[in-house]
Amino acid sequence: MTPATRLPELPVVCVQGLGFVGVAMATAVADARDRHGAPLFNVIGVELPTTEGVAKVDAINAGQLPLATTDRKLADAFAQAVARGNLIATTDERCYALASVVVVDVPLDVVREGQTPSVNLSDFRSAIRTLGRHLEPSALVIVETTVPPGTTTKVVAPELAVALAERGLHEDGVLIAYSYERVMPGPGYLDSIVNFPRSYAGHTSAAADAAEAFLSKVIDTKTHPLTRLGSTTACETAKVLENSYRAVTIALMEEWGRFAEAVGIDLFEVVRAIRVRPTHSNMRQPGFGVGGYCLPKDPLLGAVAARELHDRLDLEFPFSTQAVAVNEVMPLVSLARIETALGDLSGTSIVVMGVSYRPDVGDTRYSPTETFVRDARARGATVTCHDPMVRYWPELELEVHAELPSLAGVDAIVFAVSHPQYPALDLATWLDGARPLVLDANDVLTDAQRALLRRRGCTVLSIGRGGST
Ligand SMILES: NC(=O)c1ccc[n+]([C@@H]2O[C@H](COP(=O)([O-])OP(=O)(O)OC[C@H]3O[C@@H](n4cnc5c(N)ncnc54)[C@H](O)[C@@H]3O)[C@@H](O)[C@H]2O)c1
Repeated sequence: MTPATRLPELPVVCVQGLGFVGVAMATAVADARDRHGAPLFNVIGVELPTTEGVAKVDAINAGQLPLATTDRKLADAFAQAVARGNLIATTDERCYALASVVVVDVPLDVVREGQTPSVNLSDFRSAIRTLGRHLEPSALVIVETTVPPGTTTKVVAPELAVALAERGLHEDGVLIAYSYERVMPGPGYLDSIVNFPRSYAGHTSAAADAAEAFLSKVIDTKTHPLTRLGSTTACETAKVLENSYRAVTIALMEEWGRFAEAVGIDLFEVVRAIRVRPTHSNMRQPGFGVGGYCLPKDPLLGAVAARELHDRLDLEFPFSTQAVAVNEVMPLVSLARIETALGDLSGTSIVVMGVSYRPDVGDTRYSPTETFVRDARARGATVTCHDPMVRYWPELELEVHAELPSLAGVDAIVFAVSHPQYPALDLATWLDGARPLVLDANDVLTDAQRALLRRRGCTVLSIGRGGST
């Protein structure tokens, strides 16, 4: 008898797409309990029958998380759900016929050819049509994918209507809602889903009610009440604006970082002084760059939506567009600081500490370190990479050091990602007499570490700090 056959008959929730969002959401849903502690749902994670998709499905069914995480809560909840039998994975799309709810967590890339960003909706449309081929009428579809605002109304609903009509079913047979993810891979991965505020909207009021009922079972809505928006387009806009706001405020700090370096002040000290004002408590700070699957692309989705879904060519998004452009080249500022200090990068050896896009995360997608490494190599430098979370870097097809590399012959070290291990490093032992240039590009090192490096004869530079601060 498999564990699943011991479970009572529970509503089935399918999660379409088992990436960084889908795996965590599938775990959150499988971990949802009634007041007696009994599971509320049987969860089926669904992937494409590609090599990567099959590997993820096999890993999940073998009880292995198909991603690296430092969040014990996520790892434990996942392991328990698989052992209990209420979380399984498959590439068989026919399982959607069993679903009361489908959560859509497939990707949607922004395509950048020339000046005009765009989205290619064909894979996304195909994912939605797959649902339409199998879903029972009255099932609920909750789209979580970040989309150009207007997509649920103008793409999801029509695609489902056509697929349902082909089966002789009424086009409104399926309930459609939108509710975006604020999931944050890292130490609080699972909590960023189940203990975090959530917004949602329905294509119809019945769909909104159904989404509310479902989300209330997965999310702790007593401490984090749900926010219902008036339309799915408003909810999609909330996601895109939320991330555009963050990208713009990060980009703003870039020019002030350069100013601080030029006039010899510590911008982190300045920001701390400003953050005491409640209205400015989450002010950003200068850094190495912006990466991950969301912030580099989401600010472009407003312009894409205006042009491609709403036929409004007159609407421009200069701040969002400029923020993306500033954030994209941010890592090259660090490279330029090193080049200026060393004179010429040709034939130099650089160690980069941190290749993931943020601390405590093993995700290297659109990592700022990629921009840095590619450009450094193009200028003739040899780059060695260290990261506590990443063993293999697929974008660069590179093995990444887990142990500290030898500093013999190394000209510069760049601390790019503020992984929690780095402020605890015994730098004196690591230096072992070497005196490389050190660039703290992301406020990674402690004051004591920077002082020690200087005492040992290293030149220490910081992004956002001028002089010897
Ligand atoms: N990563 C984050 O931290 C984060 C946070 C908030 C929102 N989002 C948004 O969530 C969405 C998903 O992001 P992600 O990081 O999980 O992406 P991902 O690339 O890690 O995962 C997506 C998965 O979907 C699978 N997939 C694609 N088409 C499919 C289909 N038709 N059927 C089944 N599986 C399919 C892919 O094979 C892939 O494994 C994106 O829109 C993203 O912008 C991501």
